[in-house]
Amino acid sequence: MATTSKIYIAGHRGMVGSAIWRALTAQGYTNLIGRTSAELDLRNQQAVNAFIAAEQPDIIIDAAAKVGGILANNNFPYPFLMENLQIQNNLIDAAHHLDVKKFIFLGSSCIYPKFAPQPLKEEYLLTDSLEPTNEWYAIAKIAGVKACEAIRKQFGKDFVSLMPTNLYGPHDNFDLESSHVMPAMIRKFHEAKDTSSPVGLWGSGTPMREFLHVDDLAQAVLFAVNNVLPEHLYNVGTGTDVTIKTLAETIQKIVGHKGSIVWDSTKPDGTPRKLMDSSKLRALGWEPKYSLEKGIEDAYHWFQSHQEDYKTLKL
Ligand SMILES: NC(=O)c1ccc[n+]([C@@H]2O[C@H](COP(=O)([O-])OP(=O)(O)OC[C@H]3O[C@@H](n4cnc5c(N)ncnc54)[C@H](OP(=O)(O)O)[C@@H]3O)[C@@H](O)[C@H]2O)c1
Repeated sequence: MATTSKIYIAGHRGMVGSAIWRALTAQGYTNLIGRTSAELDLRNQQAVNAFIAAEQPDIIIDAAAKVGGILANNNFPYPFLMENLQIQNNLIDAAHHLDVKKFIFLGSSCIYPKFAPQPLKEEYLLTDSLEPTNEWYAIAKIAGVKACEAIRKQFGKDFVSLMPTNLYGPHDNFDLESSHVMPAMIRKFHEAKDTSSPVGLWGSGTPMREFLHVDDLAQAVLFAVNNVLPEHLYNVGTGTDVTIKTLAETIQKIVGHKGSIVWDSTKPDGTPRKLMDSSKLRALGWEPKYSLEKGIEDAYHWFQSHQEDYKTLKL
C-alpha cells in the first residue's frame, strides 16, 4: 500500500485505534481519517454509508466496538450483542458495496470455545460452546469474522480478521466498573500503594491468561495493511501465558504496593486458560516486541501521567 492510501480507522480514539493510528503515522502513512462516535454513530447504517461514499477510503480498519470486562458483559448482554453487530455490519457492508480495497476486522480470543484445546488455533472456531459470561460479545465477533470470510470467499476481496489476545497499554480503560483485568489491577494497586492497604481481586487467581501490548497488536495491523494475507483469520498473541496470581504479583511489584492481596473466590473466574496459537501470523513475519514486565511498566507509566482523568471514575 502507498503511504498516501486513505485509511479510515474506526474507533481511532480507543486503546486499539489510537495505537494503530500511532503505528501508521510512524510508518509514514499521511492520509488517515477518524471520526468520534459523537461525529459518526456507527450503529446508524445510513450515516455509515454516506460517510464511506463521501470519503472513499482505500482501507478500513474496524477498531470500533462496545468493549468491557466480565461484569459489564454479564450485566448488559443486549448492547454487547446488538451494538457490536450493528457497528461491524454497517462497516463491512458499506466497505463491500462501496468497493473499499482492504478491510481489517478486529475481534477477540473470546470467539473460541470455552474448553477448546490449548493453545487456541484458528481452526477451533465454532467447534464447541462459548464461555457464557461473554457469549453475547463473542457471537457478534464471530458474525464479523464470518461476514469477512464470506465476502472474501464469494468476491475474492482482501477482507481479513485479526483476533488479538488480552490487550493492554496506553489509552486503556481504568474505570473499575467496565475495565479488563490488567488495568483494574494497575489502578487498585496504585491507589492502595500509599497506605499499603489490602487489595481485593476477583476469583481464585488460578486461571491463565495471555497479554499483548497494544503497540505489538498495532504492528500486526500494520503488517496486514502492508501485505495481502493468504487466509481470512489470524490470532495475534505472544504465545506465553501467566496465572492471574502471577500477573497480580508482577503488577504489585512494578507499582510498588507493599500490602496484601485478598482473593474473592465467590466471584467468577471465567475460562480456565486462554492461550492463543499465533504461529500462522508469526510464520508470515510478524512478532511481538514487549516482554510482560516492560509492557506493564509502560502501561503503568501511561496511567500515572493520565490519572487525573480517572479520579472521577468509580472505584
Ligand atoms: N481491549 C482489549 O483487551 C481487546 C482485546 C482483544 C480485542 N480487542 C478488540 O479491539 C477493538 C477495540 O477495542 P479497544 O480496547 O480499543 O476499545 P475502546 O478503547 O473502548 O475503543 C472503542 C472505540 O470504539 C468506538 N465506538 C464505540 N461505539 C461506537 C459507535 N456506536 N459509533 C462509533 N464509534 C464507536 C469508540 O469511539 P469514541 O471514543 O469516539 O466514543 C472508541 O474509540 C474491539 O473490536 C475489541 O474487540 C480489544
